[in-house]
Amino acid sequence: CGIVGYVGGQSALDVVLAGLRRLEYRGYDSAGVAVLADGGLASAKKAGKLANLEKELAARPLPAGTTGIGHTRWATHGGPTDVNAHPHLDNAGRVSVVHNGIIENFAALRAELTDRGHELTSETDTEAVAHLLAEAYSSCGDLAEAMRQVCRRLEGAFTLVAVHADAPDVVVGARRNSPLVVGVGEDEAFLASDVAAFIAHTREAIELGQDQVVELRRDGVTVTDFDGAAAQVRAYHVDWDVSAAEKDGYDYFMLKEIAEQPKAVADTLLGRVDESGVLSLDEVRIPQEVLREVDKVVIVACGTAYHAGMIAKYAIEHWTRIPCETELASEFRYRDPIMGPRTLVIAISQSGETMDTLMALRHAREQGAKVLAICNTNGSTIPRESDAVLYTHAGPEVAVASTKAFLTQLVACYLVALYLGQVRGTKWGDEIREVVRELAAIGTQVEQVLGTMEPVRELARGLADKNTVLFLGRHVGYPVALEGALKLKELAYMHAEGFAAGELKHGPIALIEQDVPVVVVVPSPRGRSVLHDKIVSNIQEIRARGARTIVIAEEGDEAVVPYADHLVRIPRTPVLLQPLVSAIPLQVFACELATARGNEVDQPRNLAKSVTVE
Ligand code: G6P
Repeated sequence: CGIVGYVGGQSALDVVLAGLRRLEYRGYDSAGVAVLADGGLASAKKAGKLANLEKELAARPLPAGTTGIGHTRWATHGGPTDVNAHPHLDNAGRVSVVHNGIIENFAALRAELTDRGHELTSETDTEAVAHLLAEAYSSCGDLAEAMRQVCRRLEGAFTLVAVHADAPDVVVGARRNSPLVVGVGEDEAFLASDVAAFIAHTREAIELGQDQVVELRRDGVTVTDFDGAAAQVRAYHVDWDVSAAEKDGYDYFMLKEIAEQPKAVADTLLGRVDESGVLSLDEVRIPQEVLREVDKVVIVACGTAYHAGMIAKYAIEHWTRIPCETELASEFRYRDPIMGPRTLVIAISQSGETMDTLMALRHAREQGAKVLAICNTNGSTIPRESDAVLYTHAGPEVAVASTKAFLTQLVACYLVALYLGQVRGTKWGDEIREVVRELAAIGTQVEQVLGTMEPVRELARGLADKNTVLFLGRHVGYPVALEGALKLKELAYMHAEGFAAGELKHGPIALIEQDVPVVVVVPSPRGRSVLHDKIVSNIQEIRARGARTIVIAEEGDEAVVPYADHLVRIPRTPVLLQPLVSAIPLQVFACELATARGNEVDQPRNLAKSVTVE
């Protein structure tokens, strides 16, 4: 969910709505706002996208005020209806609350409130908080103190922002787990789930820590813990500006973000590689002695980041000879995994907020493992709670389907794998130096692929009426196939599946029928040539059964030509680095197919960009 709060001299409604527009990628099941005006509180909320709320506000405008809050929701408790939308009010309509997360003891709180005569009208866990806040405020007369009292009673993960009609010019927020950032302007202050919401007004931000309550007034910000003791906070300057959070002439954020990949990759490499092929990752604060002792690497992540982690496994095991496993973060801690002080856990997350990944890393640290985060969001929870972090420098990624963040996650994974190899000194020393040099130059190849995507778009448009697309790959091409299928599911809402090409004959080949499109990611014929020969046989097998083959193969790979109904060329790269170029046609393919099917590219149905519940 996306949350915004404002207090200052401007129209709160305008500031909050503009902020919500920037946060809509975090959830778009419903939206709502509340403004303090004329000694009272006015609010509006609507199911569906923000545009529905804007229509409602145009038809029934709210009175003007300079203190307000807003919310854009990804539904957890209660379906996406008008009633369940945030903000939620108390019975007197004096307190208004927005919330991100899940309050686990809400049923007990609700029962307790009902016994005391409160009437709760929605199915959400949030409404109980509005009622509790109203009670606490009426006895202590201070909204921040009321919030602290309420927070001490809540279980689960929550970020809350509230206003009270009796406390004009005050916005109060509380944070446990889900993110909340303060923006400090001149004679105004902002609260939001991420800085994009207020970047048009200020680039000065304050990061809130776990279990903190913040009180915002026009002239200052006060942060305490849940018991009221003054809290340590970190102020920082946001190093990107509003243009990074805008479409910049592209029809969709996704198109812009696909196009930004050469820069994102180059920025992620910047300062980390030198010309002689030596890596310096001083920012990885895990001492080299500890890295030398690591006897097992475990990668945890979700969605697209998980696919980056699967590719990393091939690279880490090859270059370092350390056993590596990659696991879905949501499964990891529940199977009681074996870890110890010599285990290095790598948590990959674009947002740095994904609850499944956060819980996995907490579990890992409890077991004594060292955790390295690979993350795109400065100061977010996952890097804060890790032993070290390697930031990807993709810039803000707004489209729900991840593209540039994925490529930079790959770069970061390669850097870690190569660095571990360098620190530990394996027999692949020469290869490592050579690959580091090639990695440093990979931006050019990424750029080159982007320049040749028109035939892929045309092909996608021609497949808009298909029901199924299959994806095959081997070696690092296998996770790429999974990622290609995920992109298509997310964006085109089509049945899409990725398989290891070798596994095809053990079942999935039964799915092949006349004219089914099958995308095949072909490994380089150089290096591991056995793999290449095997996949050429797999292509023949499916073609003989009627599949329409879409073959993604390296320039100069002539062996595939007779079996490709459509051939997509990618530049030559070292074998393990191929995903950096082979993923791109799959992103373009999914984006174009979604457009051809009339789907919303940046905000696919049912999804949200950062999922802060387990
Ligand atoms: C959500 C998004 C996916 C993303 C996944 C992990 O499900 O819809 O696109 O890959 O979360 O996100 P993270 O921020 O942890 O990389």
